[in-house]
Amino acid sequence: MVKQITKVVIPAAGLGTRFLPATKAQPKEMLPIVDKPSIQYVVEEAVAAGLHDILIITGRGKRSIEDHFDRSFELEYYLEEAEKTAELNQVKEIASLGNIHYLRQGAPLGLGHAVLASQAHISNEPFAVMLADDIMEHGSTLLQDMLRLYSKYGQSVLALMEVKPSEISNYGCVDVERMSETHYRIRGVVEKPAPNDAPSNLAIIGRYVFTPEIFTYLQLTRPGRNGEIQLTDAIGGLLEKQEIIGVTFSEMRFDIGNKNDYLRATIEMALSRPDLRQTVLDLLSSLSCGRALKEEARDSLPDPLP
Ligand code: G1P
Repeated sequence: MVKQITKVVIPAAGLGTRFLPATKAQPKEMLPIVDKPSIQYVVEEAVAAGLHDILIITGRGKRSIEDHFDRSFELEYYLEEAEKTAELNQVKEIASLGNIHYLRQGAPLGLGHAVLASQAHISNEPFAVMLADDIMEHGSTLLQDMLRLYSKYGQSVLALMEVKPSEISNYGCVDVERMSETHYRIRGVVEKPAPNDAPSNLAIIGRYVFTPEIFTYLQLTRPGRNGEIQLTDAIGGLLEKQEIIGVTFSEMRFDIGNKNDYLRATIEMALSRPDLRQTVLDLLSSLSCGRALKEEARDSLPDPLP
């Protein structure tokens, strides 16, 4: 019987250079989407999938992440005195989300290096990895589906997404054999290939489930693309020993390190909230672009009959 997965690693040590100047003095993981820091969405997704043992890999300048998930007695006292019960409950709930541990990566030597740093904590168990830049739409079941696949086959699982050929060089890319509409057997992986060298247009996105053998290959992995120790290269090593499953999904996923996607995430997340949906719809149609779109639609209507 395969071991049930309870642990997840969330690498969050990156410098966030794609989002400067906002990330000059604060972690990118703390940038809000609507009214929650982005990393809270990832932690909530983990907890919803039953992963309560959460290890966040941090680095210099990331202390506010720890403060965010900790109790805040002063704030709680103030909210209690002010009888702001809803806010008080919300603040308390954040501090009871899962069992969160922190580990500093030290030198930022790459994603593979960050995951390798978790070895002592994970020990000889299967585990999940969630990248904090990848935010899934509210209620996504992707991670649950991946955990289910692991329980069924005892194999590592990668989340895959079709991207435009011009975008594949931003991702780890897979060579695959299709097993069903959404399931693939991975035949090879390559980190950020040039479009012409890409074996497919299927990109690996930031949700992974690994058998503990990945650590053996992370230890063997030498710096690769951009001089960094790449998780994708270790996956390539693991593939020589064990089968790996790929799974596509139909839910929305946002790469919030990318400014377009960050804006899209903010709007879509607000639209998915019953308390904000109508306000956002009204706001969008009142914006100048919304008005222009309406006018365009009206102009393209056929003339009314005389
Ligand atoms: C990382 C991984 C890459 C993966 C991507 C998903 O790249 O190295 O294989 O496809 O995350 O978001 P990064 O976005 O950190 O450059």
